[in-house]
Order: sequence, then structure tokens, then C-alpha cells
Amino acid sequence: MNALELKRLADIDYGTPARDAATLVTLEIDGKPVTVPAGTSVMRASVEAGIPIPKLCATDTLEAFGSCRVCLVEIEGRKGYPASCTTPVEAGMKVRTQTPKLADIRRGMVELYISDHPLDCLTCAANGNCELQDVAGQVGLREVRYGYEGENHLVAQKDESNPYFAYDPSKCIVCNRCVRACEETQGTFALTIDGRGFDSRVAAGQNEAFMDSECVSCGACVQACPTATLTEKTVIMMGQATRSEITTCAYCGVGCGFKAEMQGDKVVRMVPWKDGKANHGHACVKGRFAWGYATHKDRMLKPMIRNKITDPWREVSWEEAIGYAAGEFRRIQQQHGRDSIGGITSSRCTNEETYLVQKLVRAAFGNNNVDTCARVCHSPTGYGLKQTLGESAGTQTFDSVMKADVIMVIGANPAAAHPVFASQMKRRLRQGAKLIVVDPRTTEMVRGAHYEADYHLKLKPGTNVAIIDALAHVIVTEGLVDEAFVAARCDAQSFSDWKAFVSRPENSPEAMAEVTGVPAETIRGAARLYASGGNAAIYYGLGVTEHAQGSTMVMGIANLAMATGNIGREGVGVNPLRGQNNVQGSCDMGSFPHELPGYRHISDSATRKLFESSWGVTLNPEPGLRIPNMFEAALDGSFRGLYVQGEDIVQSDPNTQHVAEALSAMECIVVQDLFLNETAKYAHVFLPGSSFLEKDGTFTNAERRISRVRKVMPAKGGYSDWEVTQLLANALGYAMNYAHPSEIMDEIARLTPTFHGVSFDKIDRVGSIQWPCNEHAPEGTPIMHVDEFVRGKGRFIITKYIATDEKVTQRYPLILTTGRILSQYNVGAQTRRTENVRWHSEDRLEIHPHDADERGIRDGDWVGIESRSGQTVLRATLTENVQPGVVYTTFHFPESGANVITTDNSDWATNCPEYKVTAVQVMPVTQPSEWQKQHQRFTQEQLELARIDG
Ligand code: SF4
Ligand code: SF4
Ligand code: SF4
Ligand code: FES
Repeated sequence: MNALELKRLADIDYGTPARDAATLVTLEIDGKPVTVPAGTSVMRASVEAGIPIPKLCATDTLEAFGSCRVCLVEIEGRKGYPASCTTPVEAGMKVRTQTPKLADIRRGMVELYISDHPLDCLTCAANGNCELQDVAGQVGLREVRYGYEGENHLVAQKDESNPYFAYDPSKCIVCNRCVRACEETQGTFALTIDGRGFDSRVAAGQNEAFMDSECVSCGACVQACPTATLTEKTVIMMGQATRSEITTCAYCGVGCGFKAEMQGDKVVRMVPWKDGKANHGHACVKGRFAWGYATHKDRMLKPMIRNKITDPWREVSWEEAIGYAAGEFRRIQQQHGRDSIGGITSSRCTNEETYLVQKLVRAAFGNNNVDTCARVCHSPTGYGLKQTLGESAGTQTFDSVMKADVIMVIGANPAAAHPVFASQMKRRLRQGAKLIVVDPRTTEMVRGAHYEADYHLKLKPGTNVAIIDALAHVIVTEGLVDEAFVAARCDAQSFSDWKAFVSRPENSPEAMAEVTGVPAETIRGAARLYASGGNAAIYYGLGVTEHAQGSTMVMGIANLAMATGNIGREGVGVNPLRGQNNVQGSCDMGSFPHELPGYRHISDSATRKLFESSWGVTLNPEPGLRIPNMFEAALDGSFRGLYVQGEDIVQSDPNTQHVAEALSAMECIVVQDLFLNETAKYAHVFLPGSSFLEKDGTFTNAERRISRVRKVMPAKGGYSDWEVTQLLANALGYAMNYAHPSEIMDEIARLTPTFHGVSFDKIDRVGSIQWPCNEHAPEGTPIMHVDEFVRGKGRFIITKYIATDEKVTQRYPLILTTGRILSQYNVGAQTRRTENVRWHSEDRLEIHPHDADERGIRDGDWVGIESRSGQTVLRATLTENVQPGVVYTTFHFPESGANVITTDNSDWATNCPEYKVTAVQVMPVTQPSEWQKQHQRFTQEQLELARIDG
């Protein structure tokens, strides 16, 4: 049996979903006793007993539908032939699955299907992986008595509008699996069965092409289709895979498990892994389809160096590039001191790679000047949750949402940024959970197919803390505190101080209504619902953290959860939705200048000693520079060298011109990346990076879940990223000799208490592990703070609302806020190089029709956006999703320059930029901004210096 067959075996389809009832039922199937939970279907019980039943319309990811009539069985004492997929088990039931009569009926049913099916099996894309073909074999169909001449669908027109999959209705058996997948799994409700009887066919939207419908290209219907009706275009082009490997998506913090199906070292398709504990076989358009960037022609595969950024790049050997970088770093340190260089780790890279970069900085550079992109996204989460709960991470599993009665989404749009989790959340909402959304925009989370928020707190950007204090005020003054929980689990003094603070009249919803723009009654209703609606869970995103009071708001959220006892069990909790695939991991691995792996402060001598004895160096007890401090130091001349692994700081960090000036002031910037990104234009050494398909390691998702990333093809540039860091360390005279990333994880586990029990072997055995995983929790920790908080007693912290310095004025009368869109990802380096641009090929400025009208702006017009930092030009989209006074854009395209306008304002505790609040003016214009013209010139120059055609 080959590897692919083995994997397929592991993917047994039980026909209907598992039930988790406490009551067990025993029945007999073909004489064999079987015990299953009550509510299980006869079909599933039978498969569990090792007796498969032919089926077409059933699959275990969807509720049974009972339309194909292929799965009929006989049940003693019952008339007729019930469908096993829709019949629940009963105690003492005696089922027969194989009788001559059943064989006859099944063969007849399949014969009908085949008589209206193209007989092109040999040339069909699904050949060898088609359930209809399999079932025809299982029921022993040898001939079709009706002939093929009758009325049929064989010439039905194909729909190839979606760039990733094709719809060929001639092969459709109208089993409805695609429709149910779109409803139950994805929650988009884009498909229906149009027409009746013989004329029925699957239709997208209002009988439109898939691309014109509301389909979001998640691929769930393609996955569910048992025939070649809905098929990936790569499979049509390349044929079936010959091997597969389980790995983890490299896009967002959901961390979906995938089966990379391969032919040799070419990816045929990425199939969402049914046993993936974060995604349960679901995916979104990015992970499922947008992997073509990995082999895109723009990949830079040769190391390059140059003395000045105005020099042409020279392709050199790895040896020369690494030697040059090490030589420059040592020269700079000799001339300007040990602290004159630093490094930036990547949340796109593996835990092992991130760990190595921070180790390189601390051990080989000899300072703590290491930081990561979490600085600009979730550093307030790390700070705020550590202060209140004692651990810098979310408290739940994603699955916990299925036990929530009230879901509060604050400053997050999971439908765009965490789509697979959004689908799960929507499923829970369709089951009846209540929803509170706190967001300045009307996002898809406010209203969608079969759900609607009970409360939408459409606040003014920058007033989160005012809202959380007002919510707390209601909970405290209306007697909604869970006194027993607080008495048992929380620090009494901090609670009473906080209670006195939030009770003050100035924190009442009435007092805050003007500040926030949210009517007091809406705040009161939301507070009552959150505190007394049963299990209440908070999910939040960058709309919470990327503010001047980002850390304050995180602490405010933790206060609210503690005060209402909504922490420490399933269905509740405080859940930061981490943006990038491994942002949780990069923080866990010690990427911050003040923390060693496992969030232990660098000033703690016992922890330092542990690392010193393992690494054979003396560590500096002082925290190093954060990214913004590195830029400041570069401009004052004291910081001159930077190693940047997989991070595009020029595009992603605020105030682009300031970042560019800082980088231009440095003497040696080493960029390690897949592409010649915006930061690489300021670099002196370019080291080819490796994609997630080209390396082994682990990613840690937003649930603290550590999953394996597996190498399915050789590194295109010659080395995986961890190997490059190791080469650099060795060239700097600091020996690293890891033979495999598993050895790096072994070192992490040895030195980090929350990782003591983690190893590649264990992950391979159990699939994935949520940290802490150690002697107290050998299998990991799905829910945190169950009996006590990590810090002992939960600590309430006073969260006084302080208005941001970024004020609207006559000159800058609008507030710009930023966010993401489903089809694009972060700086867009990957998704822009895929067909995903078909959904979103530019960043647009969303503006309310009232504000647009006042300025004479029409939909689609070019508009100039000017802030105190700079100017850029985008096209306008008029929409009431934003409120008057607020404009909104995304930042996926470098030429948009969204960060040219964002300012240097940042969170008081962590320096996380205040991306979400920038005062701007918007005016119609006819040409690009000065920055855009200059950016275009500079890009062209840099492409020529790298001899790349523009
Ligand atoms: S791709 Fe996803 S959203 Fe589109 S029709 Fe299929 S299941 Fe629905
Ligand atoms: S497209 Fe596929 S899944 Fe949908 S009804 Fe037709 S055969 Fe079934
Ligand atoms: S939800 Fe996130 S992790 Fe899952 S497939 Fe989409 S981008 Fe990848
Ligand atoms: S599989 Fe049971 S009716 Fe189709």
C-alpha cells in the first residue's frame, strides 16, 4: 500500500457526523454487535463496525440528507428499506446491510445515475478518486439497460469562471452535498438546487456564474462533491496526486491543517485535513487555493550583495553572501559598539526559525535588539493578558465557541481575516447563540446569512476603552457581577478598586454615549446580555490592540471576563484572534527584546543562567531595542545593521517615510525573504527565503496549538530558513550545529517550562498540541485558567479612558481606520501573486455617501487622503458600512501607501502603532500623490538594479 493509499485509509468517511451523547446504544449489524452514542446513524455505526455501506449523498462532514437511496438497509421488524444515513440507531436493532434484494435495489439506483453520466472515466479528472465510480464498482454494476440515448444532461454548459475550480454540470448527480457544504460548513448559502425533478441542477447565486455570485471560493463544495462536477483546475490540468503529506497553512492564525497532495515535488492541490483540530476539514480561499506564490517567477533564488542601495545587486554564492553579512555586522559592532545591530524575527516563519533568530541576536550579536511584527499587531495582548491573567495567550480552543451562548466580537472581522473560524462561529450563531459586535464599521459579522447581531456597538474609532468601562459600569452597578467567582478566583483588593472606579458616574453609558457615539441603551443591553446570557466568550482582533490604549483595552476585556466569571471553562474566555500564521509562536519563542522564550523577563537572573549555560554565552540583562526604537537609533546614528527574516517592515510598519529614512541611514541591512519586497529595496544583502512547503518545523496558532509544517519539496534557494540563520551564526563565530528542526524544538522544550512536553515525535503521534504541555499537562492544555489563573489570583486593573492625541480638526476632519479583506493577506506579497487578485486587485477607500457628497466624490473616483504624516491616492468606494466621519482602507498593495498616512502614535505600554485612528482629509484628485510617484520611480530603479523586468 503506498503512502497516499494509507492517508486515504486514515480518511475513512463514516457517512454522517459523530454524536457525543452520553447514552450508548448497542445494536447488531450483519450479526455483529456494535455500541455507539445515541443519535448515531445506522450508516455510521456500520462503518465503525467495519461494514461499509454504499452511499452517494452522505458524507461525515455534513448532516444526512437521504436523497440518493443507495444506502438502503433491512431492519428486522420494519417494513421496506430505510436509508441507513437518515435512520438513527436503536437499542437491540438488528440490521442487515448485504442481502440479494438490497444488492438489486442499489444496483438499480446506481444504474439510473450512470445512464445520465458521461462515460469518460478514463479521461475524467476524478478517475481513481470518484465516489460514483467506486459505488458502481461496489454494487457490481456491469451494464446500463436503459442505454444512453434518452434525455440527459451530457451537453450541459460548464462554468469555468472561478479561477481555481470548474463546474461541469454534465457530471452532477444532484446529491446536494455541495449545497449543504456551502450552508453547513462554510455558512455562505451561495448554492441552491434550481428546478425540479429531471431539470434540477446546482445553481450559484441567482443562477449566475460562480464568480458573479456571493461564493467566496472556500472550496467546501469542491471538497464535498463525490464526482468530477466540481473539481480543482490543477487536478484537471495535472491529474491525481501520487503522494501526500500533512502540513499547516502558512497564512492566518487559524492554523488550518492541510494535506498537500503532490506529484513528485509539485503540488497538485491542498486539501483541508479532516483531522486538523483547528479546521476539521474546512479551509478558505487563501490556504486552499492561493499557494501558487511558492513557485512564482518573482521568487528570488540566488543570494545577492551590494555595498550601497544605489549599486546594482550582484548574485553571489551562499558562502560569499553569508561571509559578507557576518563581516559587515562585526565591522559595525567594532566601530559603533555591540548594540549597533539587531534582528527582526518573522511571524511567517516556524517556531524553530524564530527561536534561532532571537538566539542569534542574543548569543552571537551579544545584545537583546530583537523584535517581531507582533510589535505592530498583538503586543498589547501579550502585555495585557500577562498583567491580568498571568499568561500572554488566548484562553480557549476554537471549538469552545460551540458551547458559547453569547459571542462578543470586538474590533475583529473574522469573516475576512480568520475565515474558517468565522464559519464555525456562524454555525453557532445559526444554532441560536446571541451576538454582540463592537466595531466602527458594519462588517460581515454584524449581519449575514441566517444571523444578525443582537447589538452592534458602532463606536467612533479610538473609543474602545470608553465602551469597555461603560459595559463594566452596567455590570457592576446593576448587580451582574459573578460574586462567587470573583471571591474565589480574583485578587480582592484589585477588584474592589476596579469596582469603585467603573462605578463612577463618568464611566456610565450615558456619560460615555457622546464620546463613543453609541446610545446608552445599546451599551446597557449589550452589558446585560454579556453578563447574564449564559456562557459568554469574547473574540477580539487588531481593532482592539492597534490603538494608543491597546493594552488598556486588552486589560479591560480581561476585567470584564473575570467580573462575570466567563473564564476557565468551555464556551467562555478571552480570545485574541492572532493575525499571522505564527504570530503566537514568534512571541512564545522570545522574539521581544525584554523576554526570553516562554515570556520570561531578560532581567530574571535564574532564567538567564539557564540559557547562558545552554548557549555558552553571557546574556545582557537589559532589554534591547524595540522596532520603533531601532528606527530612532538608526536616525541618530547609533544603530547601523539589521537582519530581517521574512518581514516587510517598510510596507507593514506605520509612517512609511520615517521607516524608509531610518533604513536608508543604516550600513548593512540583510533581508531574507521569498521576494524582493519593499524592505529589500533598502537592503545590502539578500538571502533567498523558503516557503512553508520547503521546510520542516512547527507553527503555533491563535489557540496555542502547535502543529507540524512538513517539507514537501526541496528548498528552491538551496536552504530552509533555519539553515540560513545557522550559517550566519557560524560565520559570526557562534557555533550552531542542528541537523534537523526537531533538535531545535528539543532545545526549546528543555529550556521552556510551558514546552517541556513538546517534541516532533509527540506532535506526529497526536496531531497537534496546545501549550502549556509539560509534566502537569502531558497532552497539552485546551482551556487555560481552569482552577486558578496562571498568575494565581486574577488581577483587575483600572482602565481609565484617555482620548487619543490624534484629534480630528478642521484640516483633518475624518478618521481613517484600516483592516483586511478575505482574498488578500497582510502586505499581499503572497496573495497578490495568485489569482486572488481577481477578487481584490487594489486597495480602495471606503467613505460614507454623506462625506463623499460634501466633497463631490463619486464611487470609483480617485481621491487624495492626507494626514499629518503624508498623502496618498486611492479610488473611492461609497458605502454606508462606514459611519459619517470615518473612512476605511486596506493595506495589501505597496503602491497604495496606506502606511504613508498612518502616524507614529502608539500604545503606551508596547509601542504597538495606532493604525486604527488617523485624522485625515479626503479630496478628489486627478493624479497620484508625490509619494506614489517617487515610490514608482524608486521601485523601477530597484528592479533594474536587480535586473528584473518591471
Ligand atoms: S466555494 Fe465555498 S462559498 Fe463558494 S459555492 Fe462552494 S462552498 Fe459556497
Ligand atoms: S455538484 Fe457535486 S456535490 Fe453538488 S449536487 Fe452535483 S454531484 Fe452533488
Ligand atoms: S482560515 Fe487561515 S489558516 Fe485556514 S486556510 Fe484560511 S488562511 Fe489558512
Ligand atoms: S447515502 Fe443515504 S440516501 Fe444517499
